[in-house]
Amino acid sequence: MKITIIGTGYVGLVTGACLAEIGNDVFCLDVDPRKIKILNDGGVPIHEPGLKEIIARNREAGRLQFSTDVAASVAHGDIQFIAVGTPPDEDGSADLQYVLAAAKNIGAHMQGFKVIVDKSTVPVGTAAHVADVVNAALAERKLDHGFSVVSNPEFLKEGAAVDDFMRPDRIVLGCDEDEAGERAQALMRRLYAPFNRNHERTRYMDVRSAEFTKYAANAMLATRISFMNEMANLADRVGADIEAVRRGIGSDPRIGYSFLYAGTGYGGSCFPKDVQALIRTAADNGHDLKILNAVEAVNDAQKSVLVDKITKFYGENLRGKVFAVWGLAFKPNTDDMRAAPSRPLIAALLKRGATIRAYDPVSQEEARRVFAMDLKGEEDALGRLQFVDTQYEASADAHALIVVTEWKEFKSPDFGKLYRQLTSSAIFDGRNLYEPEALAAAGFHYEAIGRPF
Ligand code: NAD
Ligand code: UGA
Repeated sequence: MKITIIGTGYVGLVTGACLAEIGNDVFCLDVDPRKIKILNDGGVPIHEPGLKEIIARNREAGRLQFSTDVAASVAHGDIQFIAVGTPPDEDGSADLQYVLAAAKNIGAHMQGFKVIVDKSTVPVGTAAHVADVVNAALAERKLDHGFSVVSNPEFLKEGAAVDDFMRPDRIVLGCDEDEAGERAQALMRRLYAPFNRNHERTRYMDVRSAEFTKYAANAMLATRISFMNEMANLADRVGADIEAVRRGIGSDPRIGYSFLYAGTGYGGSCFPKDVQALIRTAADNGHDLKILNAVEAVNDAQKSVLVDKITKFYGENLRGKVFAVWGLAFKPNTDDMRAAPSRPLIAALLKRGATIRAYDPVSQEEARRVFAMDLKGEEDALGRLQFVDTQYEASADAHALIVVTEWKEFKSPDFGKLYRQLTSSAIFDGRNLYEPEALAAAGFHYEAIGRPF
């Protein structure tokens, strides 16, 4: 089938590459010429395991192309996926300007029936808004080509995006019940047939419920994380081990093991913004989402838990103290630094005078960029932030090690070497990677999240 993907970010690029991989003819559009150049030069602008190989294979086979040519992109696909960003606006609501710009382009160039798919995470009612924009653009051209707007939110996780897309838990598809909607549903059914072969994964529903499903899913996951972070903070106070508690409650199939890890607070480009956007939607509809307000407040507070532990140990003034930071990305296997917990943590330590030596296996370059932005005008603080090439270069002669992202290579470090390197023999672990008793026995001062030692 002929598919256009508008926006070649984490979602668009993965969607385009994976749909080409199963045999479709895919045209990926982006307004950012830098990204398109990287892709056309054989590179990949983001770090996502397995993606590079799929892109190379499908470009070679002639099933995947990248361009900034809007008219050509609209002409190409019978199905037009909108996969552009929906960042938070000043009031927390989803900023729809990129989605609506993409819709306008479709209306301005379409020559026949199109299925327009909202793949971006968008508030309830956006499909109708997109339809209005397309209709207005068509009216300007005095045309009335048919189209239907479908809601098909994406549930992939960064770092596992290719696998998640290829083996989805579910495909949510919201279609209108009119004739155009039925035509759109038939096309989407055909597109996703390969994913439904073993068993039907598609959940068909109305458009508004599909839009809502995406926010409800992310809100539920964010709630679990904030809940566990609250339990961990209480565990710290009452002398219980949150890791034992996690295993204890996870064994109940009604609860399950996943998304029960206490840590430095959820980050990334989605949970923080989607929780905020849902709170905003509720407020706009005269409803106070009490649970989600608490989820957000707990998450905000969680970002300073490690800083509190560090200042309790060293005092408020950290001038002269050197901290090794392992992990900068908001989670492992990605270079994404959007809303990464490392950002407020490092900023808070720098503010108290500390020197930071940071290492991340892939997000180093992106980290340099975002910290230069975060610390603009604070040259002294920026000067005390160094990026190094290996984890042990970071810890060499540091006072303490701070673990922020649970990359595999941090899971079983050379503790003997760390003990020799760290002048205060202290480890502050924001991901509960190590065993408190073993570390205490090895002579470390070890503090984790909800694991009193
Ligand atoms: P992103 O910022 O990585 O990519 C968006 C891309 O769209 C950028 O490359 C940008 O240049 C491009 N763009 C903007 N306006 C355009 C236009 N008019 N025409 C063509 N290209 C345009 O964003 P992302 O992380 O891929 O997220 C996209 C959407 O998917 C968001 O709504 C997000 O909430 C949702 N989502 C993201 C993830 C994730 O893991 N990142 C998962 C599920 C859903
Ligand atoms: C999340 C969802 O998991 C995806 O289903 C969804 O499609 C996506 O948001 C989205 O809408 O963009 P992602 O942000 O890539 O995916 O990563 P997650 O693995 O969900 O992690 C999000 C944050 O929660 C990370 O900071 C992670 O460290 C944190 N987290 C996760 C915890 O603190 N504890 C956990 O148990 C799990």
